[in-house]
Amino acid sequence: MNFNQIETERLILRKFLPSDAADMFKNYCNSESVCQFMPWSPHGNIEATKEYLQTVLNSYNDKESNRLDLAIVFKEIGQVVGSISISRVNLVDNNCDLGFCIGENFWGKGIASEAGKALIKFVFENTPIERIQARHIKENIGSGKVMEKIGMDYEGTFRHSVKFKDGNYVDMAYRSIIREDYERGI
Ligand SMILES: CC(C)(COP(=O)(O)OP(=O)(O)OC[C@H]1O[C@@H](n2cnc3c(N)ncnc32)[C@H](O)[C@@H]1OP(=O)(O)O)[C@@H](O)C(=O)NCCC(=O)NCCS
Repeated sequence: MNFNQIETERLILRKFLPSDAADMFKNYCNSESVCQFMPWSPHGNIEATKEYLQTVLNSYNDKESNRLDLAIVFKEIGQVVGSISISRVNLVDNNCDLGFCIGENFWGKGIASEAGKALIKFVFENTPIERIQARHIKENIGSGKVMEKIGMDYEGTFRHSVKFKDGNYVDMAYRSIIREDYERGI
């Protein structure tokens, strides 16, 4: 996908760079709290972050890739403090998933909402996507709040629809925003 960058009042959303590994590891990839509801576990060492980062960098050159992972740079400190992505891009039905993750030292500052709104705007204004969906583990209240705040309506909860990393089945809440919602204003 052709993508330069998105700039908001406090953030820059851009593709990851090889030099981002240190910020990623320090700010969110090695955090128990960040991983609580995520499918991955804290990286443990920077080599694991570099390995993960390489898969993201490879995806930018892979024509078959159906996702775009972006670094969230907090301009105030010039560091990558989290990530936001569109994934499972389906250009038959014109829909995609949205996901986000912010380092715990930066929670509660409106960063996820600011990034989410900006990426939704970018997608609706630059692609034929009709529907953007997101899902979260039912207990991940904060994630649901962000989704609501960026204009995504609750659609229902699929019980035991995902087997979590601890082997337990979890209930996933689904939300979405469709083009006409966006055009009405979020
Ligand atoms: C969930 C997460 C993305 C929120 O990021 P954030 O930048 O702190 O969110 P925002 O500051 O934009 O908050 C938006 C709204 O959600 C609310 N909110 C955020 N986290 C919350 C929490 N843990 N509990 C209750 N409300 C919460 C905020 O109060 C705010 O509402 P308000 O404007 O009415 O006050 C962040 O905690 C995170 O990355 N967690 C770990 C990874 C994760 O779970 N990602 C989502 C996977 S589906």
